[in-house]
Amino acid sequence: MVDLDEAARATLRANDRGDYTVPNGRVYPFQWNWDSAFVALGFDTWARDRAWAEIETLFRAQWADGFVPHIVFWQDDPGYFPGPSVWATGRDPVTSGITQPPVAASVVRTLWVRAESAGEGDSFRPRLEALLPRLLAWHRWFARNRDPEQRGIVVALHPWETGRDNSPEWDAPGEAIDVSQVGEYTRRDTSHLDAKMRPTKLEYDRYLALVQFGRARGWDHAEIAAANPFRVADVGMSMILLRANRDLLALAEMLGREAEADELRALVAIAEAGIGWLWDEERRTWCSRDLLTGRHSGFVTSASFLSFYAGLRDAQKDAAMLAHFARIAAKVRFTVPSLDPDDPGFQMIRYWRGPVWAVVNYMIGTGLAEAGHAGEAGRVRSDTRAMMDQTGFFEAYSPIDGLGSGGDDFSWTAAIWLAWARSAT
Ligand code: DGY
Repeated sequence: MVDLDEAARATLRANDRGDYTVPNGRVYPFQWNWDSAFVALGFDTWARDRAWAEIETLFRAQWADGFVPHIVFWQDDPGYFPGPSVWATGRDPVTSGITQPPVAASVVRTLWVRAESAGEGDSFRPRLEALLPRLLAWHRWFARNRDPEQRGIVVALHPWETGRDNSPEWDAPGEAIDVSQVGEYTRRDTSHLDAKMRPTKLEYDRYLALVQFGRARGWDHAEIAAANPFRVADVGMSMILLRANRDLLALAEMLGREAEADELRALVAIAEAGIGWLWDEERRTWCSRDLLTGRHSGFVTSASFLSFYAGLRDAQKDAAMLAHFARIAAKVRFTVPSLDPDDPGFQMIRYWRGPVWAVVNYMIGTGLAEAGHAGEAGRVRSDTRAMMDQTGFFEAYSPIDGLGSGGDDFSWTAAIWLAWARSAT
């Protein structure tokens, strides 16, 4: 345990670039949005100031309209594709033009609670006060740009926005993307990693076609949202934003920001009333839904279980999700696989088509525990601990044998060890 603690801190130190952390020095050499948020939880276990700096650095790249990019290219690195010149957002600092799951507000709430209980509330309160309007501006950006029908959902315009790049949830909606004009390019991910663990060529063509689509519209988010060939209400981002709005509301109330609290209460109410649109009654699961066709994906993925983390409480839907959990947990050694192992498309080492991701387990385990499902919560946490204990801090893990998938020495995995997985409760 002590060795693993030290190894986790060493991983974070090695990937630390001063005031932000790269997910992994070779494969992902820049600052990634939701990676950084989770990384802050890890730093906070021994370097509180550094933890807050991680989030503050991310928000230094926020655009004037509240948008927070998924990558910030603080310095160039030829080891990654598509780099800053491909995105061409014309921003300073240079960023990508899409966003990522908004976990930051929930992380900031955790950082705040820990600072306060360590008796350091007074020194961190000004930093919280400075972050709150920035977080709220991002959440407003989502409401304005990504929830056209005011359903309390998040519409993703690129699979990379969801963080679950090659989930089968994007296969059918992705067919509408024209890849005929993408042209030649050289991938860098497959020169660092086994191609069997990565998205396919067709998936990459689609990713790039969407980047080209956004770039051709000068990264005008309203214009892109109105015409993008890929518009999918993502169950993961929708659940995460609902949770983040609840956490930001708690912070606004604590700071006595009444107007902001009212606004956040309204956002939570909209989501509670509308998010049922993502429930697939036929498959009896939460899943993503194509905005263009109205079709549910029908897949049971690890994101389906984030309903507990979102704070949704519905006896029948919860029972259905717990039944899925029991069925899946009986089938794999390590929960929670990113795709139902009973699905014919399940692949135990291919990215988001099977592997277990520690950050998703953290959110699922947290949500299950809060909802009173201690047995399932305990299983998720102890499986996460066992994978790391056996294999180290990989990007993801096979749910069958716990072997690593993707990059090693991964920042957010090490952070989740320190912040959550290492202890039994
Ligand atoms: C990648 O390059 O694989 C990333 O997931 C994009 O964010």
